[in-house]
Formats: sequence, C-alpha cells, structure tokens
Amino acid sequence: MNTKKNISVCFTADQFKKYADRKSTVVVIDLLRATSVISTAFMEGVKAIIPVQTLDEALSYKGKDGYIVAAERNAKPIEGFDFGNSPFHYINADVEGKTLVLTTTNGTKAIYNAREHKVITASYINIDAVAKHLIDEHNDVILLCSGWKGVFNLEDPIFAGSLAKLLLKSDKYESNCDSMFASIQLLKSAEGDLFNYLSDSSHRRRLKSLNLEDDTRFCLSPPIKSDIIPILKGDKLVVL
Ligand code: MLT
Repeated sequence: MNTKKNISVCFTADQFKKYADRKSTVVVIDLLRATSVISTAFMEGVKAIIPVQTLDEALSYKGKDGYIVAAERNAKPIEGFDFGNSPFHYINADVEGKTLVLTTTNGTKAIYNAREHKVITASYINIDAVAKHLIDEHNDVILLCSGWKGVFNLEDPIFAGSLAKLLLKSDKYESNCDSMFASIQLLKSAEGDLFNYLSDSSHRRRLKSLNLEDDTRFCLSPPIKSDIIPILKGDKLVVL
C-alpha cells in the first residue's frame, strides 16, 4: 500500500535542527533572492554553484579562471566581488560554463544547515519541476525557509505554501505540521498578488530602500521558467 509522505515547513535556517532527520528531502527556499538567483544562474549556463558561509572563503576563489564570486550581506553587494545577489547579474552575461561561488545572508546558511540531507533549491522559476520531482521521488519533505537572521520572513513561507499545495494535490502527501498549514493560509491571504501583499514586509522594504524593486518583481513573478533542479552534491550545487 502506498502510504502518504509527510510535508513539514521550517520557518528559519536556525530552526532546522528541530526538523533534521537525515532522511527527508530538504527543499531550501530563499525567494528574495538567493534561490531565485540560483535558478537563474543555472538557467543562464552556470556549471556549478559553491555556496559558502564567509566572505573570506568566497574571496579565496577571486580571479581563479572559470570562477565568479558573488556576495550579499543585508541585501547589499560587497566591495571586491564580481557580483552581488541580483538575478539580473546572470541574464545575458558571460556566465556559461562558469562556477559561481556564492555567499548570502541567509540562503547559503540554510543550504549549509541542511547539508546532511538530500538538498535541492526552489523558486517560482523551477517550482513545477521541483514539485514533479518530489512527487515522483515520494519521500518525506522538509520545506526549509531561510528567514532573515534567525527570524521569520513572509515571502519564504508563502512560497512554501505554493509548493505544499502542489504536493498535497497529488494525494501522495499529508501533513501534521502547523507551519505548513500556516504557510498555505498566508498564500491564500496573498490572493495571487504577492507583490502588493508583501508591500510592508521587511525584506521587500529593505530591497526597495536599495532601489531593488525590479529584483523583487522578478523573484515573485519570474518571466522565465526552468526545469533545472539544483541539488547539493558534496560542497557544490549541480544540475540534478
Ligand atoms: C538572503 O540570503 O537572505 C537573501 O538572498 C538576501 C538578498 O539577496 O537580498
């Protein structure tokens, strides 16, 4: 008999230790902007992405042939790096075949915290491919929201609600996780207009203060779709 698998939602990278079971498939979510950037970079031909925890570790790759180094802290790019953390860095850019070394405030930390699991990354760019893969794989799933410096953010759980809805529709999943039910309620409240619903959210306001509203629009409602599922293999994200 095919038993239903479980969906859990973890609201911050720091809380992951309460969900870790070394069995579930972990989907890392950092909608504004790390996992949207990761999807875009692979779509534009990046060969692999090395998520690192510190600026110094990322800088150690600077200038190496075939490498791009990108860093963001508090939504801002960091002096001395090739890129910040905008998806637009990768569109129509010379990134084909390159290896991207990436460090961000929360997203790359979430990936690190989940490293003892099967880890894939998701965004609205590849959500349909991720949902299909998870349904085909039929394993317990932890939707890991990156949050912001250890606290809840609004956009990642809304995305988790979108992905959870797709999984529940397959009738192959169930959940006993209030965070998942809350995520679906948040998605319903947004009524399909995430950009306006998130007007007062902390990270949209942070990005707006840096004139990055176009990044927000892109990540919430991307003009591109991709079947590429980034998966963590050792210290690198590669195409599944
Ligand atoms: C994060 O890691 O929290 C985000 O990617 C930050 C950002 O890019 O604005």
